[in-house]
Amino acid sequence: MSELLTLEQEFLSAIEAANDLPTLDEVRVSALGKKGKISALMQGLGKLAPEDRKTHGQAINAVKQSVAGAIEERKTRLERDALNIRLQTEREDVTLPVRGAPVNQGRIHPISQVWEEITEIFADLGFAMAEGPHIETDENNFTKLNIPAEHPARQEHDTFYFNEKEDGSRRVLRTHTSPVQIRTMEQEKPPIRIIAPGRVYRCDSDQTHTPMFHQVEGLVIDKETHMGHLKWVLEEFCKAFFEVDDVTMRFRASHFPFTEPSAEVDIGYSKKGDELLIGGDENWLEILGCGMVHPNVLTNVGLDPEVYQGFAFGMGIDRLAMLKYGMPDLRAFFAGDMRWLKHYGFSVLNTPTIAGGL
Ligand code: PHE
Repeated sequence: MSELLTLEQEFLSAIEAANDLPTLDEVRVSALGKKGKISALMQGLGKLAPEDRKTHGQAINAVKQSVAGAIEERKTRLERDALNIRLQTEREDVTLPVRGAPVNQGRIHPISQVWEEITEIFADLGFAMAEGPHIETDENNFTKLNIPAEHPARQEHDTFYFNEKEDGSRRVLRTHTSPVQIRTMEQEKPPIRIIAPGRVYRCDSDQTHTPMFHQVEGLVIDKETHMGHLKWVLEEFCKAFFEVDDVTMRFRASHFPFTEPSAEVDIGYSKKGDELLIGGDENWLEILGCGMVHPNVLTNVGLDPEVYQGFAFGMGIDRLAMLKYGMPDLRAFFAGDMRWLKHYGFSVLNTPTIAGGL
C-alpha cells in the first residue's frame, strides 16, 4: 500500500512540475495511458486473491481519481496562463486611426492624368506614340527645324546649354518636343501620324512658366494634308479633352521657323474666384502652336516637299491641366506639397478611357 502512495506522490509532483501542456500530457500517458503505471496496477488486480481484490481495487481507484483530478486542474491553469500571455502580447489599440491601403492613399499627379487623357484621345484618332531624349543635339532642337545659328528664335527659347565639346558642338536640354518630329521623319516613311508627349526645359519662371514643363508634339505627314485637317484634329481634341461642346478656340496667325503658315491657339475661359472655367471669351490662355510643316524641314530630313506635306502642333500639357482642373498657379505642380496632391491628384484606380470617360 505504501508503494501505491509513493507512486501517487511521484505523479502529483510531476504534474505540479509540468510547465507546459506537452509535458503534462507525457505525465498523463505514463500514469493513466494504456501502458501507464496505474493502468498496469488495475490490470494486475485479476491475479490477487478475491478477498484482497476489493480493498486494493478501491485504493488504486482513489489514486487514479486523484492523479486524473490533478492533471485536469493543472491543464486548466496552464491553458489560462497561456491565454493571459497571448492577451498581453497580442494587444491591439482599437483607438488608433484606421490607415487606408496604399492604393487608396496614393495619388496620380494631375500632369500624369492629363498626359494619359491626351494620349488616349489621340490614340482614338489613330495617332501612334513617339519619344525622344531630353538631352538633344543643337541640330535636332534647332538647325534641322529651320532655326539656323544666330536665328533670334534661339534666344527666345531661353535654352539651357551644355558645355561646348571639342568639336565645337553643343548639346541642349530640349526646349520643345519638336525635335521628335525630326527623329521620326528620319526613321519612318510617310504616311506619319504621331504624338510625342514629354518634358521640355526653358530658363523661365513665373505664375504660368516653369523651367521644366510638358508638351505634346503632334505630326502628320502625307501626300494630301492641309490646314483644314489640322484645325479639325485640334477641335476634335479640345471637345474630347474638355468634355464640353462649346469650347471657344481662337486661331491667331503666328510665326514658327518650322511651320508655314503658323498659328497659335488660345482657349477661352472665365475666372470664378480662384477657379478657371472653360468657355466664353472673357480671358484667353494660349495652349498650343501649330502650322504646316515648313518645306525646308522636309528637305532637311530627306523628304520631297513637292510630294509630301503635313502639319504639326505643340501643346502645353501643364496649361491644359490648369484649364481643365481649374488650378491657377503652375508652380504648385512642381512644389511636391502632399496636401496639394491630395486635393488635386487622382485615384490610382481611375484610368482615363474614351469609353469610360476621361
Ligand atoms: N515647338 C513650338 C513651341 O514650343 C510649338 C510648335 C510645335 C509650333 C509644332 C508649331 C508646330 O513653341
